[in-house]
Amino acid sequence: MNKDSKIYVAGHRGLVGSAIMRKLEAEGYQKLVSRMHAELDLTDQKVVDAFFAKERPEYVFLAAAKVGGILANSTYPAEFIRDNLLIQTNVIDSAYRHGAKKLEFLGSSCIYPKHAPQPMMEEHLLTGPLEPTNEWYAIAKIAGIKTCQAYRDQYGFDAISLMPTNLYGPGDNFDLQNSHVLPALIRKFHEAKENDDSEVTVWGTGSPKREFLHVDDLADAAVFLMNEYSDREFVNVGVGEDLSIRELAEAIKEVVGFEGGLVFDTSKPDGTPRKLLDVSRLRSLGWEAKIHLEDGLRTTYSWYLENATKSGEAPIRS
Ligand SMILES: NC(=O)c1ccc[n+]([C@@H]2O[C@H](COP(=O)([O-])OP(=O)(O)OC[C@H]3O[C@@H](n4cnc5c(N)ncnc54)[C@H](OP(=O)(O)O)[C@@H]3O)[C@@H](O)[C@H]2O)c1
Repeated sequence: MNKDSKIYVAGHRGLVGSAIMRKLEAEGYQKLVSRMHAELDLTDQKVVDAFFAKERPEYVFLAAAKVGGILANSTYPAEFIRDNLLIQTNVIDSAYRHGAKKLEFLGSSCIYPKHAPQPMMEEHLLTGPLEPTNEWYAIAKIAGIKTCQAYRDQYGFDAISLMPTNLYGPGDNFDLQNSHVLPALIRKFHEAKENDDSEVTVWGTGSPKREFLHVDDLADAAVFLMNEYSDREFVNVGVGEDLSIRELAEAIKEVVGFEGGLVFDTSKPDGTPRKLLDVSRLRSLGWEAKIHLEDGLRTTYSWYLENATKSGEAPIRS
């Protein structure tokens, strides 16, 4: 990409899309194109094609998707598979048809089999059954990887795919009904401190292990790979190390400054025992995560305090 290349970021107000916008602006990219969901519904093939015919972006970051936690996935399975299939197919097809040079598709580490060997390597894709609670979303994301490979094989379209691990950071969703574990714990400890509670309850046994990548690191990798990587094989994007939910809860308790106790509600589901990405392919390309979890938790909590409303609603995205 040149600094005056025309770049479209789909989903620019989301956790990932807003981080990619920040990164591109910080690196001096001038011609950034974006549309709000209300202005451009990416599930509508006609309006998507009209948008690409008009704007003709050279580079596309596909960070728009219907995203949610376990509860949302199991409550709205049809919407999760339909909307994600429509969004990615419309954007990939129209980007190709209207002469884009390159597209970067963002999937997620939930594409891997529930009992994949750990750490999960790219070649473990489609080697076993998926985690049932988010299979609709995972199937759509796997179809996205295959769509990029198919457009490359048939048309020579330079579409690449990234599979990030669990992300966190500014712009995250702190709504306890459908947020991921890390933002949910930040809010729970913050509110417990505010209310002088004696303890915080964490779902599950605390023993599952998870990997967390700061979204600004992801944005750095996304721009790096858009500039440096062109291949049909997708790339895992992660830190390459994980920690238990108990260790994460203790780290967040420390950052928030909550002095009460920790209780584990073992009646709640643990989910998969471990979910760690193998990042040797990414490392071999010369990229490594830079933001340590402790530092990332501190800056994310500061962002939460600046943006969280007293009513407990999810913070308003800037
Ligand atoms: N969050 C994670 O931990 C994580 C981890 C790995 C990979 N990823 C991947 O990163 C990508 C982005 O996820 P995210 O966490 O940034 O999600 P997010 O914060 O929910 O952002 C998604 C964005 O897409 C927009 N969008 C959704 N449906 C749309 C539609 N029909 N038309 C136009 N815009 C639409 C949303 O706009 P509205 O909010 O206005 O609907 C939102 O701005 C996804 O592909 C996801 O798989 C995320």
